[in-house]
Amino acid sequence: MNLHLIPEPRKTHFISRRLHSVFFEYFGHAIYDGIWVGKDSPIPNIDGLRREVVEGCRELGVGAMRWPGGCCADHYHWKNGVGPDRPARLHPMSDPANPVWRHDFGTDEFLRLCELTGAEPILTVNTATGSPEEFLDWFEYVNGPAETKFGALRAATGHPKPYGVKCWGIGNTDENVWHIDYNNPVAYAQNYLKYETVLREDRRRLCFIGLGLSTRHGLPGWTGKALDHITRNQRALPPDALSVHHYLGGAKQGGQLCGGAVDFSEEGYYALLNLLERYQYDIDLHRVIIREHAGPGAKTKVCFDEWGAWHPEATFAANQNQPQTLRDAIFAALALHIFYRNSDIVEFAMETQLCNLLQSLFESAGAKFYRPPPFPAMKLLKPHLGQHLIHVLPDELDKDLDTVASISPDRREIIVSIVNRHLHDEKHIDVRTHGDGWTPGDAEILTADDVHDRNSFDAPSTVSIAPFPASSRLALPPHSIVRLRLICGHIARCVD
Ligand code: AHR
Repeated sequence: MNLHLIPEPRKTHFISRRLHSVFFEYFGHAIYDGIWVGKDSPIPNIDGLRREVVEGCRELGVGAMRWPGGCCADHYHWKNGVGPDRPARLHPMSDPANPVWRHDFGTDEFLRLCELTGAEPILTVNTATGSPEEFLDWFEYVNGPAETKFGALRAATGHPKPYGVKCWGIGNTDENVWHIDYNNPVAYAQNYLKYETVLREDRRRLCFIGLGLSTRHGLPGWTGKALDHITRNQRALPPDALSVHHYLGGAKQGGQLCGGAVDFSEEGYYALLNLLERYQYDIDLHRVIIREHAGPGAKTKVCFDEWGAWHPEATFAANQNQPQTLRDAIFAALALHIFYRNSDIVEFAMETQLCNLLQSLFESAGAKFYRPPPFPAMKLLKPHLGQHLIHVLPDELDKDLDTVASISPDRREIIVSIVNRHLHDEKHIDVRTHGDGWTPGDAEILTADDVHDRNSFDAPSTVSIAPFPASSRLALPPHSIVRLRLICGHIARCVD
């Protein structure tokens, strides 16, 4: 088939680093043993943070990190995690066999991780069991001058300069939507307004992420009602973004056909990938909600702050850990394609969770470490970051091919990524770039012999990126992701 590329940047669709963001919290071994090994650990670390995690995040260009939850944000009291005295507390949502919530990794450690990786921090405030006052204290600790009460505490712990955190998640869906006041969006809105009010004028310089909804909540009118109240019927400031969570797979509703993490049939392979259309549905739903309820000209965006596959193996008793195969890499690439295509409204997309949990990017056990297949998938697509989307027009429809193309700000480079999700068929594509002078630069591929193949501590590179012949005539192997770079060979730009 012919694939026509129109090398005109779509100005509204900028693929920012924020679409390669991550989320993590205090479940299983995401933080302890994963991200945080401690300053005295024999495991290579930078200020207690596992060096391989820091380096891996840099390699991926991770744009933002969201912490301390998720559900854990609803029970997180930040004062336990600063200064020299870090009490262990009861973890109300952990495995009953180990209900201890350690606080060695707290606000300064999280912000250090962000500094080291260049990621933007997003702090989720506790709107469930916390208070607006606790939020104000936290805000002061993080952003206040050193002469304020909590700014002084921060300075005393070695960081006199305010961190300048801009983005704040106002609550997490689970407690707010499901537990505390089920189906009462006005209760959440009232709470949101209190959190906004404690900052008054500062609020306008910040990015507040309010709660959106996913279809899984089964409460389609919830977000519109909350927004009506927050904006006083479209007359006051809406949230800057709405948070959307959605996991797909065998552990989630409607996902039974997907099978297990490794033990899945052909039908299960396609079932998981087909479920991804729900992400597009979530985004479309929020476009409508924002248009109708955020107010005239509102610039409210979508923060897809928890996405990934959740396989049946990832139970709470198993610390939500799951093996991941090439199927998960293809799933991740297709999900990222959806976020890029909707980059006019999706501001953040967060792979969940960074380490050892669900669709993790890193797996560790003591000193052992490897990168599961979603890591190379994200890395393969990294060259799209910082570019504008361009139109891709295939002259035939093939539901097993999924393509995204982007152009660099200087219009000298086009990146094309194509997923061939077919399990058996090689696909032939002629890439036809409109305008003269575009020549293939380099290409890479992510695939493996079998879609059930995966990486492990003993075989960390079974699913990894390999060079691929760069050509405008591509033969894409089954179950593969290919990334091609086209270079503008003209001295004059290929597009003006
Ligand atoms: O472990 C992932 C949890 O699932 C998050 O804490 C929560 O926000 C989501 O529902």
